[in-house]
Amino acid sequence: MESKKIAIAIDGPAAAGKSTVAKIVAEELSYIYIDTGAMYRALTLKALNHHIDLEDETALVELLLHTKIELQKNGKNQIVLLDEQDVTIDVRSQHVTNNVSYVAKLPAIREELVNRQQQLASHRGVVMDGRDIGTRVLPDAEVKIYLIATVEERAKRRYEENKRRGIPSSMEQLIKEIEERDRIDSERDASPLVKAENAIEVDTTAMSINEVAQFILDAASKLIVHE
Ligand code: DC
Repeated sequence: MESKKIAIAIDGPAAAGKSTVAKIVAEELSYIYIDTGAMYRALTLKALNHHIDLEDETALVELLLHTKIELQKNGKNQIVLLDEQDVTIDVRSQHVTNNVSYVAKLPAIREELVNRQQQLASHRGVVMDGRDIGTRVLPDAEVKIYLIATVEERAKRRYEENKRRGIPSSMEQLIKEIEERDRIDSERDASPLVKAENAIEVDTTAMSINEVAQFILDAASKLIVHE
């Protein structure tokens, strides 16, 4: 008896817990997990290191065409390789976080990265998270989830994550940064952050990570029919 492999798209605003939940769901189903945000982050990191103007779309596309971005599984985690260098930690830096939305709003950059993402997901058995997975990257995904939470709750989760990592942060500042990222991601012309029509919206404000993951696994299990 074999189960049918499906695609699960998880979208939503910044710091809604998408990647944490997506990783758990992928692990449970033995699916591959693709963190598309990490791809935008890797390009942003390289552009910052090369002092490229983040509004210069032509220069950024040229840079991207000469850039290899790989996502590799390492135990329960995913490592990000930028031109064969491990940048897993660097792509999460505050500097990259505060600049990535400017790179992600450029249509030519999105076109190239969406192509790459579609190739990575060409075999079913995939959990992908981002902002435009259900609407643009995998419009045929069998399960589409749109995760939301209040901005205060998202900032609180980020604050606690920073604390665990020994990074000092302020709630007020985190709320401002998350709101700014949501604004840029939602107001851009190219594949803005919107809920796909057939996505299930899940408000995670009062839910634990495991409850959210279980909700998605339940939605998926109805479609993973045993043949
Ligand atoms: O999910 P994240 O915080 O790692 O995403 C980083 C940035 O990339 C964020 O500003 C939104 C953007 N992004 C996007 O536009 N489309 C995606 N599929 C994934 C991320």
